[in-house]
Amino acid sequence: MTTGCEFKPGLEGIPAAQSSISFVDGKQGILEYRGIRIEELAKKSSFLEVAYLLIWNKLPTDSELEQFKSDILNHRRIKYRIRDMMKCFPETGHPMDALQTSAAALGLFYSRRALDKPDYIYDAVVRLLAKIPTMVAAFNLMREGNDPVQPNDSLDYAANFLYMMTEKRPHDYQSKIFDTCLTLHAEHTMNASTFSAMVTASTLTDPYAVMASAVGTLAGPLHGGANEEVLLMLEQIGSIDNVQSYVDECVANKQKIMGFGHRVYKVKDPRAVILQGLAEQLFELEGEDPYYKVALELEKVVEAKYGQKGIYANVDFYSGLVYRKLGIPSDLFTPLFAIARVAGWLAHWKEQLGVNRIFRPTQQYTGVHDQPYIPLEERM
Ligand code: SDX
Repeated sequence: MTTGCEFKPGLEGIPAAQSSISFVDGKQGILEYRGIRIEELAKKSSFLEVAYLLIWNKLPTDSELEQFKSDILNHRRIKYRIRDMMKCFPETGHPMDALQTSAAALGLFYSRRALDKPDYIYDAVVRLLAKIPTMVAAFNLMREGNDPVQPNDSLDYAANFLYMMTEKRPHDYQSKIFDTCLTLHAEHTMNASTFSAMVTASTLTDPYAVMASAVGTLAGPLHGGANEEVLLMLEQIGSIDNVQSYVDECVANKQKIMGFGHRVYKVKDPRAVILQGLAEQLFELEGEDPYYKVALELEKVVEAKYGQKGIYANVDFYSGLVYRKLGIPSDLFTPLFAIARVAGWLAHWKEQLGVNRIFRPTQQYTGVHDQPYIPLEERM
């Protein structure tokens, strides 16, 4: 069967859905969540308010936001069986694999699939936003042989995560900067992990399986995994003097430079602009990251080399420098991306359920027909 549409690798430029959740203008470097510019939300909002906006398509009233925050606070703890399961994970396992496994395991406890019931949707949203950070922090401590730290109910969402990571109360400025990082990573139209979530959601499976699909997709180095790779790259480059030769080598080997390029943005990612500002804020307060000047030089050299191809710094280029200054190990950078993107995945899950039709694209068959079955003894 031939289709009317032309095949586009990676579905580049092919609409996979109609959505009102977020909007990107890649030429002008514009990102909006429900029509509000990311710069406004980063400055004036909070991650949980942004999550509410994305999922329920409205800025919450004071009482709605307080109820949402309180419900999430009351669901931060995870079942002891999930903690016991995580104790069996190899300490050398990647935290994204641990998160994907534990996210799916949540479904064992909440498997009632009442996708047509608003209270089921609300409960799933609350549980996933509340428990994903706890699971990320718990694995981080357990892989070092320590007991996980229980959530601290006197702390807000961002501060509590930093607390669960280190058992120390963070400074207010650290919590605010981390909360803004979560807002910046919350949603981004039809990216690979969101699309993966939607395909899984379209079969009407439970939301925990949907999240597990999305986490597995985000883990890849071409997507959410790039933030961890960027720091490794900066350390490999080592100094400003080595930047040009590093880029020349990447060009010669046609090797992609982590933290640069984007399927949609053909200018500097607006999130990278804000993240660079957050990094500089932290550096003023706590001292500059030793590799920040290398990052600045690398951005200059890559822009000179690839700017005319529309390849600029993306969201993953500066985020790792912020997280490292906050004391986060680099292999947790992508789980942090996942903690934030749960909001966007849930928004698209809920939107998909409203207009659901199972994803089942076609293909252009390039194989052969009418082949004989060759008996084993006759095969070469
Ligand atoms: C995220 O989709 C989203 O919105 C994702 C995200 C979100 O919020 O969900 O924004 C988060 O995933 C950010 C991207 C993080 N990944 C990286 O930083 C990894 C490095 N970047 C590349 O792998 C790449 O830029 C992609 C995957 C991000 C986008 O790739 P595309 O759109 O498929 O582009 P492409 O691979 O077809 O490249 C087009 C050209 C090629 O050159 P030619 O073969 O045409 O000569 O641009 C070149 C590529 O080689 N190119 C790069 C490059 N990215 C693209 N060359 C060098 N370094 C790069 N980083």
